[in-house]
Order: sequence, then structure tokens, then C-alpha cells
Amino acid sequence: MPKKLFIKTYGCQMNVYDSARMTDTLAPIGYEPTDSPDGADMVILNTCHIREKAAEKVYSDIGRLKPFKEKKTAEGEQMILAVAGCVAQAEGAEIMRRAPAVDMVFGPQTYHRLPELVAKATREKAIGKSAVLDTDFPLESKFDLLPEESRSQGPAAFLTIQEGCDKFCTFCVVPYTRGAEFSRSVEEIENEARRMVALGTKEITLLGQNVNAFHGEKSGREIGLGDLIRYLSEIDGLERIRFTTSHPSDMADDLYEAFANEPKLMPYFHLPVQAGSDKILAAMNRTHTADEYRRIVDRLRAACEDLAMSGDFIVGFPGETDQDFAETLRLVTDINYAAAYSFKYSPRPGTPAASSELQVDEAVKSERLAMLQTLLNEQQLAFNLSKVGTRMSVLLEREGKRPGQLVGRSPFMQSVHLEAPSRLVGSIAEVEVIDAKANSIEAKVITGEWETSVVDAA
Ligand code: 5AD
Ligand code: SF4
Repeated sequence: MPKKLFIKTYGCQMNVYDSARMTDTLAPIGYEPTDSPDGADMVILNTCHIREKAAEKVYSDIGRLKPFKEKKTAEGEQMILAVAGCVAQAEGAEIMRRAPAVDMVFGPQTYHRLPELVAKATREKAIGKSAVLDTDFPLESKFDLLPEESRSQGPAAFLTIQEGCDKFCTFCVVPYTRGAEFSRSVEEIENEARRMVALGTKEITLLGQNVNAFHGEKSGREIGLGDLIRYLSEIDGLERIRFTTSHPSDMADDLYEAFANEPKLMPYFHLPVQAGSDKILAAMNRTHTADEYRRIVDRLRAACEDLAMSGDFIVGFPGETDQDFAETLRLVTDINYAAAYSFKYSPRPGTPAASSELQVDEAVKSERLAMLQTLLNEQQLAFNLSKVGTRMSVLLEREGKRPGQLVGRSPFMQSVHLEAPSRLVGSIAEVEVIDAKANSIEAKVITGEWETSVVDAA
């Protein structure tokens, strides 16, 4: 009987990738994924430490899991409860102290050691010892030691090509939890992409904390992210490529060229700016000004006319005045985003900005966030509405909530709802957009690889 593995993933896409790879690591020792913690032999919480709320959620989830663990023990079996990811890296010892139900704690760079950790935790538990902790930054790279993918991530998959960050933005925990910037080899990435496509994936999102810092070597030549995208485009069966997340200071010519010339690179760019005031950008150690960001976006749009821009914003960074915040609104108005993520500044322990004496009042942060989100939502709705009546290709990713409904992604990253038979999940459809809301668009199928099957189904 296979053992049941339940993984809950918090936070960013890199955690989604890591969770898939944890599943691969545990497959050879008999664990198969399940979709409920009830009855699971192992539960892994793959955590995020980027903002305070994310970490707090982990502790309440541990509390919620306790009854399942007790039930398992009462049945004479064992449920191994593990905390992984960035909270584990940042607060490993604290978790062990605060949550005795936890059996294993390991960080983002050591999950290739999972089989050993499981054996150790099982042994130590049997003799009543405390949890097993592994938050090293090992010399060996997990990527060299992970087994090949045991299952497909689905039509749209994530592939980590770069990890860690050397930018040290003063608000951010990533350089501490994920470690120094590191790029995987081009060969390794190409092989993994090929295997993903062989398993049925049509779209790959290349991941990295600062993915446009990616650098590698191919045919004796130094290459960057844009070149890598060009090489990956040569893989037959890989239809779409995306990447995230980028830093404006690492924009290179090859990436502009990829947007201009590479049809498989989707016209959507998530380029966080965080703030529109040069004073705040400097205090954040972002190493660029608001105007430099504007010029980058101008050049991108010159390369790819119909480019959907997305960004990240932080409001209420220490020292942010009304005037500074007005600069953020001005930048948003100038750029005109198709999507965006915005957050209240959350002081993270150990980061420089957390000890600033210029912390902004919570109520002011909330007020600014509401104003910013109103503007961003208006822009997102306007972008979605601008696509009504146009045609585009949609990768059908999964079944929707309503019977007969499928959900997919447009080239611009919009969530698309349409009616089509469920066997078409995994295909790319040509659609016409018929309606738009703030968070999704509705479309009807015109043609697809399966055109005849759609007719059959009707
Ligand atoms: N407080 C609020 N938002 C943060 N982010 C990162 N650190 C913090 C923090 N301390 C946001 C940034 C980043 C995104 C992933 O999370 O906008 O781009
Ligand atoms: Fe964090 Fe991104 Fe800044 Fe790196 S570039 S420190 S990951 S916000």
C-alpha cells in the first residue's frame, strides 16, 4: 500500500515547484500525493515568510492538523508532520519550541535529503526524541541530487532556473531564506523542460527570485534569460514560455529581443517596482529610479506593442509620506497595469527596514493600500474590457466550477472561462472574448487542435 502524502503550499510559485519536487523525492520511498490531510501518513507545510500573515497562518494550520495526527496515532499508525520552506528556514528552532506536534523542519535548499530526514524522524520519534531539523545551506546543490520528475505538473508547469537573491532590498527576507543567487545549468534546464513536455506540459513558467539575473553558458558563450528563452523555444511541443520574477536593474538586451522576436514568449511581464518615489526606492535599496523603470517599460512596449504589464507594490514603507505615496499613484497611472499585487509593508525580523524608526501607522497603510488597489483594479478591468471582441489563444488548464466550464489562461495571463468538453483540458484553443470582469474574462471557442471534437460534443 502506498503511503499518503499531503502537501500544503503557501506563497510564491517557487514553492509550488518545490512541492512538486518534494513529491518526486518521496515517490521512490513509497509516498503518493493525496488531497486531504485526513488519514495522510505525511503532511508537509511548504511555507512562505515574505509577509507576517503568511507565517502566522502556518502556526494556525499546525493547530488544525493536530486532530488528524492524533487520530492516526489512535489507529496505531503515524503521521509525520513537517514544516518546510522559508518559515522553516527562518524560524526552525522557534517552530520546534512553539509546535511540539511537528516532526521535521527543513529549508528550501535541503529537501533532496527528504528520504534520510524521514528515516531519521521515524527513528527519533519512536524513542520519543524531538523533531529533526535541517536548515543548512549545503555545498551540494539539490538540483544535482533530485530524482527525475515522477509526474506531470499539468498543461502549465513551473521550472526553477535560478534561485536566491543578492539584491538585498531592505524589506525582503529572500536573501536570508533562499540564500545567494544561483543559476542552474542550461543543459539541466533544457533536459528538464524536454521531460516536462514529454509528460504533457505545453506551457512552462521559468522561475527565480530574480529570474533575469539568470546567467549560463551554451556552446561556449555566456547567455542570459532572453537567450535561454530562445533555446527553449526550439523544443517541439512546448508552446508557451513565461518567466517570473524580475528586477528592473537586471534588464538585458537579450530579453527585449526575446519579447520582440520570440512568439512562444507570452506578452505578459511581471516587473515589480514596489514604489514610485525615488526617495523610497533608494531607502528600499532598489538601485533604480522611477523614471528608469518608466523607460524600461517604454522600451519593452516598443519591442512588444501589446505587452501586459504587471507589478508588485508595497505601501507604507518606513518614511513614506503622502507625497511619496502620490508618486506611486502617478507611476501606476503612467504605466497602466494589466494586473498587479500590492501589499502593506510588513517588518520582517532581521531585515534593515524592520528596525527603522520611521514606521508608518497601520491605519495610514490600510488607507493607502485601499487607494492603490482601487486604481489598480480599475486598470485591470479596463485592460480586460479592452480585449472583448478580440481573438486569442487559450491554454485550457482545468475544469471550472460550473458543469461544462473550463478554465484557462490567455497569453496576457488573464483567467479565461469558457464552455468546452472536459477532455479538452491540456489543449490550446482559439477563442473570442465575449465578456470581461475585473478578475477574469469569458470567451467562446472558435477553433482548436480538436475543432472536430468540439463539433462532436455539441
Ligand atoms: N512587506 C510587504 N511586502 C513585501 N514583499 C516582500 N517583502 C515584503 C514586506 N516585508 C512583497 C514585494 C515583493 C513581493 C513578492 O512581496 O512586493 O515583490
Ligand atoms: Fe527580495 Fe526580490 Fe529584492 Fe531579491 S530583488 S531582495 S527577492 S524583493
